[in-house]
Amino acid sequence: MSAPAPAGSPRHTQLSGVCIVGTGSAVPRRTVSNADLEKLMDTSDEWIVQRTGIHERHIRDDEAGETTASMATDSVRLALESAGLAPADLDMIICGTMTPDMPTPSVACIVADRLATGQIAAMDLNAACSGFVYGMNVAHAFLASGQYRCAAVIGADTVTRHCDFSTLGRAEAVLFGDGAGACILRATDDTTKGLIAQAMHSDGGGAKHLFIPSCRGDFYDAAAYDERRIGRIVMNGTAVFKFAVSTFPKLIEQTLEQAGIGPEQVDHYICHQSNARILGAARERFGLPEEKLHVNIASYGNTVGASVPLILDQQARAGRVKPGQKVMFLAFGAGLTWASSLWQM
Ligand code: COA
Repeated sequence: MSAPAPAGSPRHTQLSGVCIVGTGSAVPRRTVSNADLEKLMDTSDEWIVQRTGIHERHIRDDEAGETTASMATDSVRLALESAGLAPADLDMIICGTMTPDMPTPSVACIVADRLATGQIAAMDLNAACSGFVYGMNVAHAFLASGQYRCAAVIGADTVTRHCDFSTLGRAEAVLFGDGAGACILRATDDTTKGLIAQAMHSDGGGAKHLFIPSCRGDFYDAAAYDERRIGRIVMNGTAVFKFAVSTFPKLIEQTLEQAGIGPEQVDHYICHQSNARILGAARERFGLPEEKLHVNIASYGNTVGASVPLILDQQARAGRVKPGQKVMFLAFGAGLTWASSLWQM
């Protein structure tokens, strides 16, 4: 039996050898500013910026063929390029999405076909905004067990399809944008790299705070039934805000505790972008500088499953995420779900 680690030192001495070897992302060409939204609904740039920090978002153009699968495919193609790998190197694709273009086939199957990967494992995973982080943890389990060698993990959503851009749906419509991001995970013999700690949680009791009804029976509160909300996001913003602002620091604490390290020992916090105020509160709580807890919500809004891999790709391409660093991925969303994944790069 090995001696216990001295107090305050990291618990991980030997890791799984699974590495993040490439990243990619894709967003729709069209940007929609708060001023553009002012023309569609009773809202104001001031209201949106003050409460959310969002200035503009990218919204898909169906006519231009911008779909969840098209952006997912582009993001994996770029991630493979950055890793110096080919589609044929992949054994598995997991796509975290709650807005597949069709109920079936899965986005992951469409991506595999468009990239001509051959007949590999491909599936979608629905954990809403937590989908990408859940996907990283699931893919890691397959790679660490030796069953697969190389996986693409995607977060991709076109949730604006479920937004009502009129005054009726303004509380939800101003928050969201579309996009996709991906990373490539690869099993190696280098056991100084890999997953240090992870957590995946859910609370179905909170599902009523954020859902997309497809019929009258889906409304949790029968009195709140409104035919115009069918197929649209229904959200209790205050309840979701309270859940997020209290869960976020607990999730960080739990993950640090599992790893046996302090908040200052993490080089990057790559977080789901739901609201600049929620991210700001976490930054303050742990005394983190801006260059560690990244925020890009001003230009993208909340892109659901895409938000975490989108920031990862931006930070990686800017040369800020480097080998030897510790990176914590964090997300929370509908379900309710929340998850973390702490990596030694
Ligand atoms: N423009 C202008 N006014 C708006 C508006 C909009 N887009 N949306 C709502 N309002 C109005 C409301 O109707 C309400 O009016 P009333 O007081 O006359 O009833 C008023 O603004 C205040 O609304 P309220 O919901 O209390 O605002 P808030 O300060 O709680 O902020 C959110 C609303 C949605 C920004 C905030 O609750 C939030 O960020 N929640 C979390 C959402 C989230 O992160 N979802 C995704 C999770 S992954």
